[in-house]
Formats: sequence, C-alpha cells, structure tokens
Amino acid sequence: MTLPATISSIDVDYLRAQFPILSTTVHGGKPLVYLDHAATSQKPQCVIDAIASYYTTTNSNVHRGAHALAAKATEAYEHARHTVAAFLGAASPSEIVFTKGTTEAVNLVAATVAHRLQPGDEIVLTEMEHHANIVPWQLMAQQRGAVIRVIPVTDSGELDMQAAASLIGPATKIVSAVHVSNTLGTVNPVAQLCAMAGSVGALSFIDGAQAVLHDPIDVAALGCDFYAFSAHKLFAPMGLGVLYGRYHVLESLPPYQGGGSMIDSVSFDGTTFNAPPMRFEAGTPNVEAAVGLTTAIEWFAAVDPDWRRHHDQSITAYALDAIGGIDGLTVYGNAAHRVGILSFTVEGTHAADVGTLLDAMGVAVRVGHHCTQPLMRRLGVTSTIRASFSVTTTAHEVDVFAAALTKAVGMLR
Ligand SMILES: Cc1ncc(COP(=O)(O)O)c(C=O)c1O
Repeated sequence: MTLPATISSIDVDYLRAQFPILSTTVHGGKPLVYLDHAATSQKPQCVIDAIASYYTTTNSNVHRGAHALAAKATEAYEHARHTVAAFLGAASPSEIVFTKGTTEAVNLVAATVAHRLQPGDEIVLTEMEHHANIVPWQLMAQQRGAVIRVIPVTDSGELDMQAAASLIGPATKIVSAVHVSNTLGTVNPVAQLCAMAGSVGALSFIDGAQAVLHDPIDVAALGCDFYAFSAHKLFAPMGLGVLYGRYHVLESLPPYQGGGSMIDSVSFDGTTFNAPPMRFEAGTPNVEAAVGLTTAIEWFAAVDPDWRRHHDQSITAYALDAIGGIDGLTVYGNAAHRVGILSFTVEGTHAADVGTLLDAMGVAVRVGHHCTQPLMRRLGVTSTIRASFSVTTTAHEVDVFAAALTKAVGMLR
C-alpha cells in the first residue's frame, strides 16, 4: 500500500497497516505494542520494497564504472541527496554529506574543525545531550586543550537560556545542542542557540536525531552551520546518517577519512581532494540505505505535518493521563514544547524489572540511561523507563501499555 502523493488528513490505522512488523506477536502470541520508536523506527512496506527493488534492478557501485547499472545506482544515490536537501531546506544537495549515522556526523565535524581550536577555546554543549554529542567533542577537546562548558537543564527539563547567554562568549568556538531530547522529549530553542553562537563567531551544530520525526526542519530558518540525523530513526535503514553543512563551512574543512571517492588526484608526492560533499565520503557508500531513505522521506512528507503534530500531542496527553494515576510514578520533564517521548520511574521498582515485565506482556519500551548519563545525574536517577510514540501509535496501544504497567508495578511491590 502506498500513500497518495499528498494527503491532508489521515488515520493512524491506515498508516499502521503499512508496517508489517507492527502486526507481529511476541512471547507466544502477545500482540506487539512497540513503544520504542525513539530507539529506532519500524519500516513501512514501501521502504522494504524500495530496497528489494534496488537489489533486483539497480545494484552497482556508485561514481565509478561506465555501465548502465553504475549510472542507475549513482542516479539513485544522488537523488537521495537531492531528496534530503529538500527535506532539510538546504540551499543545495552539495551541502548534504552521507555518514553512517548521527554519531559519525558529530565525529566528522569534531575531527575536522579540531585544527581551528587553541588551548582555552570553549565548546558549549547542553546537559541533556546524547553521549554521541558529548564524547566526540571531549576527545577533540582533550587533544586541543579546549574546554567544554555545559548549559544546565531546569527542573522542567528545559535549557536554562539565561545561563546559555552567559556561557556563550568570545571564547566559544562551537555550540552543539540536541534539537529534541531523546530522554525528555523537550524541544529546544535551537534557532536562538545558533543565533547566540553566530553572534560570537562560533559554529553551531544541531543534533536532529529525534527532531526529524516531528516538525518539518528548515536549516536556513534555524541558522545552524551543521545539522545531523540518522536514517534509521526516520523509517529508513540502519547504517546511514545525514550531515548538513553550510557549503562555505564544509569547503573550509579538511578531509575526515581518506580513501576512494574523496580525492581529486593521488600520487605518492601528494594527494588533492574532492570538493564537498564527496570530500567527506571516502569508500563505497550505503546506497541501499540511501534509496530506502528517499522512499522513507517521501512517505513521511506525505503525512500532513499538522496532523502529525496533533496526533503526537494527543497521544502524549492520553498516555500521561493513562499512567498518571499510578502511585509513585514520576515523569521527568514537563517542557512547554515537548514531543511524544516519556521518561518515568515508579517508586519501589527498578526500571529494568519493569521493562522485563512489560516485555513479557508484549510491550516494548526502553529502560536505562538512554545514552544521557549526565542528564540522569541531573535528574537524580540512574535509569528510567522510556515510552516513545510515533505516527502509528494508537490509543489502544497506550491502554495496553498502561494496564501492563499497572500490573507490573503491582507484581514488583
Ligand atoms: C538525540 C540523539 N542523538 C544521537 C543519537 C545517536 O544516533 P545513532 O546511534 O543513530 O548514530 C541518538 C540515538 O538514539 C539520539 O537519540
């Protein structure tokens, strides 16, 4: 089943029916209630079909080989770059670098901007970053003698923007922040952070791993120098990520990894490098995933953003209401602008035990620190249970989740 080219209102069941895995059962016949969309998205049939079709009609290596399939595969790969550029509001497909994921995108930027930093220069992060947006900067800071400064999180799970204003100053060279927290669901005022970075001549990097699933992204309106996301969170395959970079900034950076495709000419006396984005894409790329991403973006873009927002807000409010009555339950973060990612603990229980019991009842959630240990410390916990929703999440799934949680808590106390 495929979506009409544009549709203004849709029904969750219509979307759900396109995901074969969502009608599967687990643990001896329990219908799967998948509430772990923030970890990875499931894939609609059209994405699965696009990948199968790629291998049955197109597969070849790209940018080399003078034969029909090589041309077809190259066209499919470059079409993916065009599709991503339009999806992010980039000025040109040349501003889109394919990586392995958000993690590699951060590593790429940290490694290639490193030479600009002097001892004492500052990199500003936030207390709610995923480890992927902390550790690469730390590694680079250690090499360069740079200093990491951290924007604190308030009790409501939002960034302390007053503190941000005083932290970002003449010594700041990079500001890197998560657009949507994978633990709290908070939507951060990243355009404001990018403007603050720009006003002191610092580069801005936005981790959009969770944000791309929500409101449409416009990198020009955000004013960021870099924006990154992972294809697998957006209904597309694993092993592919996107790094948007302002062209003149990309052009000013040295290569990240050496190998085929990223060069202009190679000799033992020296090598010259390709222009961006190829400069940053050494070796054979993940063409299959890029083809899947094209279809995933087309599929997702056909779901009316107003409907998406409305569904996300209603399912989140419904879930908060459904579990809110459980004695001893604490939900972390209540930002004014948040999306359908709920982290919580229940007094007298361990998150891991709750996760195991929910799983036995067919409910898939994530438990742990969600790769945000500094945020966990700020919240005063070591782990939480996280339920995350998608356009396919139904009120019935939330009912099953709430009943299973109530039962699990009763068993554990
Ligand atoms: C906010 C955020 N940033 C970065 C990442 C890392 O993404 P990946 O593992 O796909 O590189 C994740 C993954 O959960 C995330 O949620």
